[in-house]
Amino acid sequence: VSSRRLGAAGSPITDALEALVETGVLQRDPLQLAAAAELDRVMVELSRAPKGGLLGMFASAPEPVRGAYLVGQVGRGKTMLMDLFFQHVPIAKKRRVHFHEFMDEMHVAITEFRKSEHGRGNADPIAAVTKPLLDEIRLLCLDEFQVQDITNAMLLGRLFGQLWAAGVTVVATSNTRPDDLYENGLNRQLVLPFIAELKARCDVVELDGPTDYRRLKFEGEEVYRFGVGPEVDAGMDRLWLRLTGGVAGEPGELRSLGRSIPVPRQAMGAARFSFADLCEKPLGARDYVKLSHAFDALMIEHVPQFDRLRTDASKRFILLVDTLYDRGVKLAASFAVPLDELGRDDKTKAEFARCVSRLIEMQSTQYLAAAHRGHADAPAVV
Ligand SMILES: Nc1ncnc2c1ncn2[C@@H]1O[C@H](COP(=O)(O)OP(=O)(O)O)[C@@H](O)[C@H]1O
Ligand SMILES: [Mg+2]
Repeated sequence: VSSRRLGAAGSPITDALEALVETGVLQRDPLQLAAAAELDRVMVELSRAPKGGLLGMFASAPEPVRGAYLVGQVGRGKTMLMDLFFQHVPIAKKRRVHFHEFMDEMHVAITEFRKSEHGRGNADPIAAVTKPLLDEIRLLCLDEFQVQDITNAMLLGRLFGQLWAAGVTVVATSNTRPDDLYENGLNRQLVLPFIAELKARCDVVELDGPTDYRRLKFEGEEVYRFGVGPEVDAGMDRLWLRLTGGVAGEPGELRSLGRSIPVPRQAMGAARFSFADLCEKPLGARDYVKLSHAFDALMIEHVPQFDRLRTDASKRFILLVDTLYDRGVKLAASFAVPLDELGRDDKTKAEFARCVSRLIEMQSTQYLAAAHRGHADAPAVV
Protein backbone atom coordinates (compact mmCIF):
# COMPACT_ATOMS: atom_id res chain seq x y z
CA VAL A 1 0.00 0.00 0.00
CA SER A 2 1.55 3.29 -1.00
CA SER A 3 1.64 6.12 1.50
CA ARG A 4 -0.50 7.99 -0.92
CA ARG A 5 -3.46 5.72 -0.38
CA LEU A 6 -3.03 5.75 3.36
CA GLY A 7 -3.26 9.52 3.41
CA ALA A 8 -6.34 9.86 1.19
CA ALA A 9 -8.10 12.86 2.71
CA GLY A 10 -5.03 14.33 4.40
CA SER A 11 -2.71 14.66 1.44
CA PRO A 12 -4.46 16.38 -1.46
CA ILE A 13 -1.38 18.20 -2.75
CA THR A 14 0.86 15.14 -2.48
CA ASP A 15 -1.83 13.18 -4.32
CA ALA A 16 -2.08 15.79 -7.06
CA LEU A 17 1.70 15.83 -7.43
CA GLU A 18 1.89 12.04 -7.53
CA ALA A 19 -0.81 11.98 -10.19
CA LEU A 20 1.26 14.33 -12.37
CA VAL A 21 4.30 12.12 -11.85
CA GLU A 22 2.36 9.00 -12.70
CA THR A 23 1.06 10.46 -15.95
CA GLY A 24 4.58 11.54 -16.88
CA VAL A 25 3.98 15.28 -16.75
CA LEU A 26 6.52 15.69 -13.96
CA GLN A 27 9.61 13.84 -12.81
CA ARG A 28 9.60 12.44 -9.30
CA ASP A 29 11.46 14.79 -6.98
CA PRO A 30 11.82 13.98 -3.26
CA LEU A 31 12.18 17.63 -2.25
CA GLN A 32 9.02 18.54 -4.12
CA LEU A 33 7.22 15.71 -2.35
CA ALA A 34 8.41 17.03 1.00
CA ALA A 35 7.19 20.50 0.06
CA ALA A 36 3.86 19.04 -1.03
CA ALA A 37 3.50 17.39 2.39
CA GLU A 38 3.99 20.78 4.00
CA LEU A 39 1.39 22.32 1.69
CA ASP A 40 -0.95 19.47 2.65
CA ARG A 41 -0.59 20.59 6.24
CA VAL A 42 -1.51 24.18 5.32
CA MET A 43 -4.46 23.04 3.25
CA VAL A 44 -5.85 20.68 5.86
CA GLU A 45 -5.61 23.34 8.55
CA LEU A 46 -7.21 25.93 6.32
CA SER A 47 -10.10 23.66 5.45
CA ARG A 48 -10.63 22.90 9.11
CA ALA A 49 -10.37 26.32 10.75
CA PRO A 50 -13.92 27.61 11.12
CA LYS A 51 -14.43 31.31 10.78
CA GLY A 52 -17.61 33.15 11.60
CA GLY A 53 -20.77 31.10 12.09
CA LEU A 54 -22.78 31.00 15.28
CA LEU A 55 -20.03 29.56 17.41
CA GLY A 56 -17.47 31.82 15.87
CA MET A 57 -19.33 34.84 17.13
CA PHE A 58 -18.66 33.84 20.70
CA ALA A 59 -15.43 31.94 20.46
CA SER A 60 -12.24 33.90 20.30
CA ALA A 61 -10.66 34.16 16.85
CA PRO A 62 -9.23 30.79 15.75
CA GLU A 63 -5.50 30.31 15.74
CA PRO A 64 -4.23 31.63 12.42
CA VAL A 65 -2.98 28.93 10.10
CA ARG A 66 0.77 29.05 9.57
CA GLY A 67 1.66 29.47 5.91
CA ALA A 68 4.65 28.32 3.89
CA TYR A 69 7.60 30.04 2.26
CA LEU A 70 9.04 28.00 -0.60
CA VAL A 71 12.61 28.99 -1.26
CA GLY A 72 15.23 27.80 -3.70
CA GLN A 73 17.02 28.52 -6.91
CA VAL A 74 15.26 28.95 -10.23
CA GLY A 75 13.51 26.11 -11.98
CA ARG A 76 13.05 23.96 -8.87
CA GLY A 77 9.27 23.91 -9.13
CA LYS A 78 8.34 26.50 -6.51
CA THR A 79 5.74 28.24 -8.62
CA MET A 80 4.43 24.96 -9.96
CA LEU A 81 3.83 23.72 -6.40
CA MET A 82 2.27 26.93 -5.21
CA ASP A 83 -0.11 26.92 -8.18
CA LEU A 84 -1.00 23.30 -7.54
CA PHE A 85 -1.77 24.20 -3.95
CA PHE A 86 -3.77 27.26 -4.92
CA GLN A 87 -5.80 25.31 -7.41
CA HIS A 88 -6.75 22.65 -4.87
CA VAL A 89 -7.31 24.64 -1.71
CA PRO A 90 -11.07 24.56 -1.14
CA ILE A 91 -11.71 28.04 0.19
CA ALA A 92 -13.29 30.87 -1.74
CA LYS A 93 -11.40 33.74 -0.15
CA LYS A 94 -8.09 33.14 -1.84
CA ARG A 95 -5.89 35.15 -4.12
CA ARG A 96 -2.75 34.33 -6.10
CA VAL A 97 -0.74 37.27 -7.30
CA HIS A 98 2.77 38.19 -8.25
CA PHE A 99 4.47 39.80 -5.27
CA HIS A 100 5.61 42.85 -7.17
CA GLU A 101 2.15 43.45 -8.54
CA PHE A 102 0.61 43.11 -5.10
CA MET A 103 2.98 45.68 -3.63
CA ASP A 104 2.30 48.02 -6.54
CA GLU A 105 -1.40 47.77 -5.81
CA MET A 106 -0.80 48.56 -2.16
CA HIS A 107 1.27 51.64 -3.02
CA VAL A 108 -1.44 52.88 -5.35
CA ALA A 109 -4.15 52.28 -2.74
CA ILE A 110 -2.17 54.12 -0.08
CA THR A 111 -1.57 57.09 -2.38
CA GLU A 112 -5.28 57.21 -3.23
CA PHE A 113 -6.20 57.03 0.43
CA ARG A 114 -3.84 59.86 1.35
CA LYS A 115 -5.51 62.04 -1.27
CA SER A 116 -8.98 61.21 0.03
CA GLU A 117 -10.78 63.28 2.62
CA HIS A 118 -10.34 60.60 5.23
CA GLY A 119 -6.67 60.19 4.51
CA ARG A 120 -5.87 63.84 5.07
CA GLY A 121 -6.60 63.39 8.75
CA ASN A 122 -4.33 61.09 10.69
CA ALA A 123 -6.11 57.86 9.91
CA ASP A 124 -3.72 54.94 9.39
CA PRO A 125 -3.37 54.34 5.65
CA ILE A 126 -2.24 50.74 6.11
CA ALA A 127 -5.32 49.87 8.11
CA ALA A 128 -7.44 51.58 5.49
CA VAL A 129 -6.01 49.56 2.60
CA THR A 130 -5.91 46.23 4.38
CA LYS A 131 -9.52 46.41 5.56
CA PRO A 132 -11.14 45.79 2.15
CA LEU A 133 -8.52 43.10 1.49
CA LEU A 134 -9.54 41.20 4.58
CA ASP A 135 -13.08 40.84 3.30
CA GLU A 136 -11.75 39.08 0.24
CA ILE A 137 -8.83 36.97 1.34
CA ARG A 138 -7.98 34.44 3.96
CA LEU A 139 -5.22 32.96 1.86
CA LEU A 140 -2.70 35.05 -0.03
CA CYS A 141 -0.34 33.29 -2.43
CA LEU A 142 2.57 35.47 -3.50
CA ASP A 143 4.91 34.52 -6.32
CA GLU A 144 8.52 35.71 -6.27
CA PHE A 145 8.63 37.37 -2.91
CA GLN A 146 11.50 39.78 -2.50
CA VAL A 147 12.47 42.92 -0.67
CA GLN A 148 14.02 45.29 -3.06
CA ASP A 149 13.97 48.83 -1.93
CA ILE A 150 13.51 50.69 1.30
CA THR A 151 10.00 51.86 0.40
CA ASN A 152 8.82 48.28 0.10
CA ALA A 153 10.86 47.21 3.09
CA MET A 154 9.22 49.77 5.36
CA LEU A 155 5.76 49.00 4.11
CA LEU A 156 6.12 45.23 4.42
CA GLY A 157 6.32 45.02 8.18
CA ARG A 158 3.20 47.06 8.84
CA LEU A 159 1.20 45.63 5.97
CA PHE A 160 1.86 41.98 6.64
CA GLY A 161 1.70 42.58 10.39
CA GLN A 162 -1.92 43.61 9.96
CA LEU A 163 -2.76 40.83 7.51
CA TRP A 164 -1.32 38.19 9.81
CA ALA A 165 -2.96 39.66 12.88
CA ALA A 166 -6.29 39.38 11.09
CA GLY A 167 -5.69 35.69 10.39
CA VAL A 168 -4.57 35.77 6.75
CA THR A 169 -2.37 32.86 5.73
CA VAL A 170 0.51 33.63 3.39
CA VAL A 171 2.10 31.12 1.03
CA ALA A 172 5.01 32.49 -0.98
CA THR A 173 7.77 31.51 -3.37
CA SER A 174 11.16 33.19 -3.37
CA ASN A 175 14.75 32.89 -4.50
CA THR A 176 15.88 34.33 -1.17
CA ARG A 177 15.82 32.81 2.31
CA PRO A 178 14.07 35.01 4.87
CA ASP A 179 17.34 35.66 6.70
CA ASP A 180 18.92 36.92 3.50
CA LEU A 181 16.11 39.24 2.44
CA TYR A 182 17.21 42.79 1.76
CA GLU A 183 20.76 41.72 2.52
CA ASN A 184 23.11 44.70 2.81
CA GLY A 185 20.16 47.02 2.25
CA LEU A 186 20.09 50.51 3.63
CA ASN A 187 18.75 50.57 7.21
CA ARG A 188 18.40 46.81 7.16
CA GLN A 189 17.83 46.67 10.92
CA LEU A 190 14.38 48.13 10.30
CA VAL A 191 13.45 45.00 8.34
CA LEU A 192 14.58 42.50 10.98
CA PRO A 193 11.31 42.47 12.96
CA PHE A 194 9.45 41.70 9.74
CA ILE A 195 11.82 38.83 8.95
CA ALA A 196 11.30 37.43 12.44
CA GLU A 197 7.54 37.58 12.05
CA LEU A 198 7.72 36.05 8.57
CA LYS A 199 9.58 33.08 10.02
CA ALA A 200 7.05 32.76 12.84
CA ARG A 201 4.08 32.89 10.48
CA CYS A 202 5.40 30.68 7.68
CA ASP A 203 7.27 27.40 7.62
CA VAL A 204 10.33 27.84 5.46
CA VAL A 205 10.53 25.02 2.92
CA GLU A 206 13.77 24.63 1.02
CA LEU A 207 13.49 23.47 -2.56
CA ASP A 208 17.09 23.27 -3.57
CA GLY A 209 17.47 20.05 -5.46
CA PRO A 210 20.08 19.56 -8.16
CA THR A 211 17.67 19.82 -11.09
CA ASP A 212 16.71 23.03 -12.83
CA TYR A 213 13.63 21.74 -14.64
CA ARG A 214 13.18 24.86 -16.68
CA ARG A 215 16.65 24.52 -18.14
CA LEU A 216 15.91 20.89 -18.98
CA LYS A 217 12.81 21.89 -20.88
CA PHE A 218 14.61 24.24 -23.19
CA GLU A 219 17.78 22.22 -23.56
CA GLY A 220 18.52 21.51 -27.20
CA GLU A 221 15.23 23.07 -28.22
CA GLU A 222 14.76 25.50 -31.08
CA VAL A 223 12.34 28.03 -29.64
CA TYR A 224 11.68 29.82 -32.93
CA ARG A 225 10.19 28.40 -36.10
CA PHE A 226 10.12 30.20 -39.43
CA GLY A 227 7.67 30.09 -42.29
CA VAL A 228 3.96 29.44 -42.55
CA GLY A 229 1.96 26.27 -42.98
CA PRO A 230 0.98 23.04 -41.29
CA GLU A 231 4.53 21.88 -40.75
CA VAL A 232 5.47 24.97 -38.79
CA ASP A 233 2.24 24.74 -36.78
CA ALA A 234 2.86 21.07 -36.02
CA GLY A 235 6.33 22.01 -34.80
CA MET A 236 4.76 24.56 -32.48
CA ASP A 237 2.33 21.94 -31.17
CA ARG A 238 5.24 19.67 -30.30
CA LEU A 239 7.12 22.51 -28.64
CA TRP A 240 4.04 23.42 -26.61
CA LEU A 241 3.75 19.88 -25.26
CA ARG A 242 7.42 19.92 -24.37
CA LEU A 243 6.91 23.15 -22.40
CA THR A 244 3.90 21.81 -20.51
CA GLY A 245 5.18 18.29 -19.97
CA GLY A 246 2.52 16.93 -22.30
CA VAL A 247 -0.49 18.78 -20.93
CA ALA A 248 -2.67 20.26 -23.68
CA GLY A 249 -3.87 23.04 -21.39
CA GLU A 250 -7.11 24.91 -21.22
CA PRO A 251 -8.45 28.39 -21.85
CA GLY A 252 -8.17 30.95 -19.10
CA GLU A 253 -8.31 34.65 -18.58
CA LEU A 254 -6.07 37.33 -17.23
CA ARG A 255 -7.62 40.22 -15.39
CA SER A 256 -6.00 43.53 -16.10
CA LEU A 257 -7.29 47.01 -15.27
CA GLY A 258 -10.76 45.66 -14.70
CA ARG A 259 -10.77 43.99 -18.11
CA SER A 260 -10.37 40.40 -19.00
CA ILE A 261 -7.80 39.25 -21.53
CA PRO A 262 -8.65 35.81 -22.89
CA VAL A 263 -5.82 33.27 -22.72
CA PRO A 264 -6.52 30.68 -25.44
CA ARG A 265 -4.44 28.00 -23.70
CA GLN A 266 -2.52 27.76 -20.49
CA ALA A 267 -0.78 25.00 -18.56
CA MET A 268 2.14 24.56 -16.16
CA GLY A 269 3.10 28.22 -16.07
CA ALA A 270 3.04 28.62 -19.86
CA ALA A 271 0.49 30.36 -22.09
CA ARG A 272 -0.12 30.08 -25.81
CA PHE A 273 -1.35 32.93 -28.00
CA SER A 274 -1.47 33.94 -31.61
CA PHE A 275 0.17 37.18 -32.67
CA ALA A 276 -3.27 38.64 -33.35
CA ASP A 277 -4.45 37.85 -29.79
CA LEU A 278 -1.72 39.98 -28.28
CA CYS A 279 -0.81 42.62 -30.83
CA GLU A 280 -3.87 43.28 -32.94
CA LYS A 281 -6.03 44.13 -29.97
CA PRO A 282 -5.87 47.32 -27.93
CA LEU A 283 -3.51 45.97 -25.27
CA GLY A 284 -0.94 48.22 -23.64
CA ALA A 285 2.16 48.26 -21.49
CA ARG A 286 0.32 47.35 -18.27
CA ASP A 287 -1.34 44.35 -19.88
CA TYR A 288 2.01 43.06 -21.06
CA VAL A 289 3.47 43.48 -17.58
CA LYS A 290 0.56 41.48 -16.14
CA LEU A 291 1.17 38.82 -18.72
CA SER A 292 4.84 38.57 -17.86
CA HIS A 293 3.99 38.26 -14.17
CA ALA A 294 1.43 35.56 -14.73
CA PHE A 295 3.47 33.24 -16.96
CA ASP A 296 7.10 32.33 -17.19
CA ALA A 297 6.92 31.01 -20.73
CA LEU A 298 4.90 32.39 -23.60
CA MET A 299 4.22 30.93 -26.99
CA ILE A 300 3.28 33.35 -29.76
CA GLU A 301 2.31 31.97 -33.14
CA HIS A 302 2.11 33.54 -36.58
CA VAL A 303 4.19 36.66 -36.12
CA PRO A 304 3.94 38.36 -39.54
CA GLN A 305 6.39 40.45 -41.45
CA PHE A 306 5.92 44.08 -40.44
CA ASP A 307 5.23 46.54 -43.21
CA ARG A 308 3.81 50.03 -43.21
CA LEU A 309 0.27 48.76 -42.78
CA ARG A 310 0.92 47.31 -39.37
CA THR A 311 2.32 50.24 -37.44
CA ASP A 312 0.19 49.77 -34.33
CA ALA A 313 0.68 46.04 -34.23
CA SER A 314 4.41 46.38 -34.73
CA LYS A 315 4.68 48.95 -31.95
CA ARG A 316 2.83 46.59 -29.64
CA PHE A 317 5.03 43.69 -30.64
CA ILE A 318 8.17 45.71 -29.87
CA LEU A 319 6.74 46.69 -26.49
CA LEU A 320 5.76 43.11 -25.76
CA VAL A 321 9.21 41.76 -26.57
CA ASP A 322 10.80 44.47 -24.40
CA THR A 323 8.55 43.58 -21.50
CA LEU A 324 9.16 39.85 -21.78
CA TYR A 325 12.89 40.42 -22.12
CA ASP A 326 13.12 42.72 -19.10
CA ARG A 327 11.42 40.16 -16.93
CA GLY A 328 13.17 37.08 -18.21
CA VAL A 329 10.01 35.48 -19.61
CA LYS A 330 10.84 32.68 -22.04
CA LEU A 331 9.49 33.05 -25.54
CA ALA A 332 8.69 30.43 -28.14
CA ALA A 333 7.40 31.82 -31.42
CA SER A 334 6.71 31.16 -35.06
CA PHE A 335 7.61 33.90 -37.54
CA ALA A 336 6.50 34.21 -41.14
CA VAL A 337 9.98 35.28 -42.22
CA PRO A 338 13.53 35.09 -40.83
CA LEU A 339 14.29 37.59 -38.05
CA ASP A 340 16.39 39.89 -40.23
CA GLU A 341 13.47 40.31 -42.62
CA LEU A 342 10.91 40.99 -39.92
CA GLY A 343 10.85 44.80 -40.15
CA ARG A 344 10.08 46.12 -43.61
CA ASP A 345 9.00 49.58 -42.61
CA ASP A 346 11.75 52.21 -42.71
CA LYS A 347 10.02 54.31 -40.08
CA THR A 348 10.42 51.75 -37.33
CA LYS A 349 13.75 50.42 -38.52
CA ALA A 350 15.78 51.46 -35.50
CA GLU A 351 13.29 50.11 -32.96
CA PHE A 352 13.08 46.91 -34.90
CA ALA A 353 16.80 46.44 -34.93
CA ARG A 354 16.79 46.47 -31.13
CA CYS A 355 13.79 44.18 -30.96
CA VAL A 356 15.42 41.65 -33.28
CA SER A 357 18.63 41.75 -31.30
CA ARG A 358 16.63 40.95 -28.16
CA LEU A 359 14.80 38.16 -29.94
CA ILE A 360 18.16 36.69 -30.87
CA GLU A 361 19.37 36.88 -27.30
CA MET A 362 16.14 35.35 -26.03
CA GLN A 363 16.89 32.10 -27.82
CA SER A 364 20.31 31.78 -26.21
CA THR A 365 20.99 29.02 -23.72
CA GLN A 366 21.98 31.62 -21.18
CA TYR A 367 18.72 33.55 -21.43
CA LEU A 368 16.64 30.39 -21.38
CA ALA A 369 18.36 29.20 -18.22
CA ALA A 370 18.11 32.49 -16.33
CA ALA A 371 15.49 33.36 -13.74
CA HIS A 372 12.07 34.75 -14.39
CA ARG A 373 12.17 38.17 -12.76
CA GLY A 374 9.08 39.90 -11.61
CA HIS A 375 10.71 43.28 -11.49
CA ALA A 376 12.33 44.79 -14.53
CA ASP A 377 15.12 46.36 -12.49
CA ALA A 378 15.83 43.32 -10.41
CA PRO A 379 19.34 42.00 -10.59
CA ALA A 380 19.39 38.59 -12.24
CA VAL A 381 19.33 35.84 -9.64
CA VAL A 382 21.55 33.02 -10.77
N1 LIG B 1 9.36 17.59 -11.11
C1 LIG B 1 9.30 18.23 -12.29
N2 LIG B 1 9.41 17.55 -13.46
C2 LIG B 1 9.34 18.16 -14.66
N3 LIG B 1 9.14 19.47 -14.82
C3 LIG B 1 9.03 20.23 -13.70
C4 LIG B 1 9.10 19.64 -12.40
N4 LIG B 1 8.95 20.64 -11.50
C5 LIG B 1 8.79 21.77 -12.20
N5 LIG B 1 8.82 21.53 -13.52
C6 LIG B 1 8.68 22.52 -14.60
O1 LIG B 1 9.86 23.29 -14.64
C7 LIG B 1 9.56 24.65 -14.91
C8 LIG B 1 10.06 25.51 -13.80
O2 LIG B 1 9.25 25.30 -12.65
P1 LIG B 1 8.81 26.53 -11.75
O3 LIG B 1 7.79 26.07 -10.77
O4 LIG B 1 8.41 27.67 -12.62
O5 LIG B 1 10.18 26.83 -11.01
P2 LIG B 1 10.56 27.99 -10.01
O6 LIG B 1 9.32 28.73 -9.64
O7 LIG B 1 11.20 27.27 -8.84
O8 LIG B 1 11.56 28.83 -10.74
C9 LIG B 1 8.06 24.73 -15.10
O9 LIG B 1 7.79 24.67 -16.48
C10 LIG B 1 7.56 23.51 -14.37
O10 LIG B 1 6.34 23.06 -14.91
MG1 LIG C 1 8.81 30.71 -9.97
